[in-house]
Amino acid sequence: MRDEENAETDLSRRHHLRQWAHLALAAAGAATVLSPLEVLAGTGRVSPRTLVAYYSRTGHTRQAALVIARAVGADIFEIEPATPYPRSYQETVDLNHRQQRANEFPPSGRLIPNLAGYGTVFLGYPIWPVDLPRFLYTFLRRQNFAGKTLAPFSTSAMSGLAGTEATLRRLCVGARLVPGLALPGGGRGHNTLVTSIDAASNQRSESWSRASLTRMRS
Ligand SMILES: Cc1cc2nc3c(=O)[nH]c(=O)nc-3n(C[C@H](O)[C@H](O)[C@H](O)COP(=O)(O)O)c2cc1C
Repeated sequence: MRDEENAETDLSRRHHLRQWAHLALAAAGAATVLSPLEVLAGTGRVSPRTLVAYYSRTGHTRQAALVIARAVGADIFEIEPATPYPRSYQETVDLNHRQQRANEFPPSGRLIPNLAGYGTVFLGYPIWPVDLPRFLYTFLRRQNFAGKTLAPFSTSAMSGLAGTEATLRRLCVGARLVPGLALPGGGRGHNTLVTSIDAASNQRSESWSRASLTRMRS
C-alpha cells in the first residue's frame, strides 16, 4: 500500500517536475538554440533547427531527452497521448496489451508546432511490449516527417530499440533515419518517477547526439 501511495505521489509530481525541467533547460541552453534562419558560418547554407521530441511515462526517456537537447542545443517537445495512461504499471501494461491484441491505435495529443522549421528530430520513447507505445503510431502518422532526419533513442528494461527503427521507417515516410541509441531504463513493474539518468547513459546520450548531428549536417 505504501509503495502504491509513493508511486502515486511521484507521478502526481510529474507536471511540476516537467515544468521545472523545461525552465532549467531553457536557462542552460538558451544561448545555443539555433535560430531557424541561422546561416552556417562560411558555408552560406541555412541551418534548420533541431528538435528533441519524446514521450515518457516515468521519466527515463525524459531525462535522456533533456541531456540530448542540452548537448546539441535543441528545442524540446513532449509527446503525449490524448488520454493519459493509468498511474499503475500493471494497468498500463494491461491496457497496452489489449490495444496491441485489438490492433488499436489510441489518439495522440497535440502535434509539434511548426515542425516545418526543424530539419532534424531526435525522437525518444520507452519500449512497450517490444514495440513503440501504441499511441505513438497515431502521433507519427499525423506528422509529416518527409525530408527530415530522424534520430531515434529508446529506454527499456532490456529490449534495446526492439526493431522500432524499421517501424519508424514505415511510419515516417520520406524521412532519413540515422542509427539509434538504446539506453537502459526502468525494470519490470517500475512505477516511480525518475529525475536523473546514470553517468554512463548521460555520456552516451551526449556523444551519440553530437555525433549524429555532425553526421546529419555533413
Ligand atoms: C506497458 C509497458 C510495457 C513495457 N514493455 C517492455 C518491453 O517489452 N521490454 C523492455 O525492455 N521494457 C519494457 N517496459 C519497461 C520500459 O520500457 C522502461 O521502464 C522505460 O525505461 C520506461 O521509460 P519512461 O520512464 O520514459 O516511461 C515496459 C513498460 C511498460 C509500462
